[in-house]
Amino acid sequence: MKDTFHLNISTADNLGIGLFKCSIDPKGKFIAINTTLATMLGFSCKVDLKSRAFRDLFSRPHDADEFFNLLRQDTKVNFFETLFVPRGGEPVWVAITASKVEDADKKEYMEGIIEDVSSHKEMEERLALERDLTQGLLDHIPDAIYFKDRNNRIIKVNNFYAQGMGFSPEHVLGKTDFDFFPIDQAQKMADDDNYVLRTGRPIVGKIERTLLPNGTWNQVSTTKIPMYDRKGEVIGTMGITRDMTAYANLEKERLTMLRSAFSALGKTLEMRDPYTYGHNHNVANIVEKIGKALGWDEDRLLSMRLAAELHDLGKISIPLDILNKPGKLNDAEYRLIQEHVTTSYSIIKDSHFPVSLAEAIYQHHERLDGSGYPRGLKDDQIIMEARILAASDVLESMASYRPYRESLGIEKALEELEKGRSFQYDSEIVDIISQFISENDRKPFWVEN
Ligand SMILES: [Fe+2]
Ligand SMILES: [Fe+2]
Repeated sequence: MKDTFHLNISTADNLGIGLFKCSIDPKGKFIAINTTLATMLGFSCKVDLKSRAFRDLFSRPHDADEFFNLLRQDTKVNFFETLFVPRGGEPVWVAITASKVEDADKKEYMEGIIEDVSSHKEMEERLALERDLTQGLLDHIPDAIYFKDRNNRIIKVNNFYAQGMGFSPEHVLGKTDFDFFPIDQAQKMADDDNYVLRTGRPIVGKIERTLLPNGTWNQVSTTKIPMYDRKGEVIGTMGITRDMTAYANLEKERLTMLRSAFSALGKTLEMRDPYTYGHNHNVANIVEKIGKALGWDEDRLLSMRLAAELHDLGKISIPLDILNKPGKLNDAEYRLIQEHVTTSYSIIKDSHFPVSLAEAIYQHHERLDGSGYPRGLKDDQIIMEARILAASDVLESMASYRPYRESLGIEKALEELEKGRSFQYDSEIVDIISQFISENDRKPFWVEN
């Protein structure tokens, strides 16, 4: 059976499609039209419309020129969108599909259909406006925003992202983080993307340091969320990365100021007692190196360092002649010296310092076997910070000159720590110190050059 379809006038009227047959001459008039076309163009009867030239319906003359040129060249024009001026109304969007045909007398004319596409155009314009608004918003937000598919390939970025990377937005499309970042960094980013894709759960505000393609490091806060299709399937990820470098630098400056203030306080204490000059600062250097070897973060390292700068603060209340007395101390003098720990702690404890800082100071003369003071704490009762401070304090004191004795030297200091390894001093810390000494030609590793 032949598969054909004939659109007749009544069918076209029911579908709301305008039908026409018209002279091909640009000034030519309609030969035949259906009711829908007349109504669409604001004519109450077909005769009125038939008296008009096809070309005069075009709102924009250059559209009419283009339409007739196309028809001449190709003999067929498909879905040509233009504005028609209906009688007594505002221009309406129509789509013309027309063919050039010949009648039996070889006379050319055209026939075709005209559809009112105003609602479709309105929708298109609304979508374009929404798209422009979204793009405008994306491009004016001072955060890098990117969309990736399920294979972590970048499918869209905003201007800020492209500028930050030093490329045009087009350059990054279709690429992955492995094209821009060092491999270990890119792998971490891919792991995060895959986590979001796999679980459908977001990652919010993750702080990371990234090396940009232009060679600069920045500190960023990244949020990654899943993107879904209409069936609810995860089809990719959207990421928002905020550059926190300026804040981080500001924070660093503040911390440097804080460190300097504590260092100045430590030095002030040492000025009263010049024989221990450099002790607090040296102990701070030692504890920081040990903390780093243990993989501690910046906050814990800073707190550890401040505890070292202030650990002997309480010595301010001890008379200098007892503090620096050569030879053996009597019991009363020894008890007075021991009191520096409680005094340091009582000054620190009411300030807004982390508990670990105050406790490290309070416990810095405690020993794992309970032989220390002031509370005779044992094993797990002594926090890691205090264990580090205790070993570092002994190391620095013994290796340095004191008014009541010559420097005992670094080897003697290490011998003392190894003698008390495990039962007085934490074995892991003693091992770290021993390794540092070996690596530094058996010289004090805490002295700044
Ligand atoms: Fe002390
Ligand atoms: Fe000390």
